[in-house]
Amino acid sequence: MPIRLVARLELLLPSQSLIQSALNEQPNLPMSEPNIFQKFPIVQMVEPGVYWWCACGRSKSQPFCDGSHKGTGFEPKEVAITEAKTVAWCACKHSGSMPFCDGTHSGL
Ligand code: FES
Repeated sequence: MPIRLVARLELLLPSQSLIQSALNEQPNLPMSEPNIFQKFPIVQMVEPGVYWWCACGRSKSQPFCDGSHKGTGFEPKEVAITEAKTVAWCACKHSGSMPFCDGTHSGL
């Protein structure tokens, strides 16, 4: 008898893949605060060029924009680097010197 009950419940519950697919289809909702990607900067050597720093904290290509901000109300920040140098990109997304780290993460 208990085995039959389990089998019937499985028929009533959505599969894990259905749940995951429904979650993935949720539209991005407007955000009032950016996501904190991490509470320390991303330090890297960069070459001269134009970069698009992620301001929303959702990008999977941190510290740069991958388009994940769509629908959040946030936009990436364009940054022109004129000479090769080491940059400490803000990764908490709360810096007062965006897109660069100013230590704000230590108070979050
Ligand atoms: S993904 Fe964060 S600003 Fe574009």
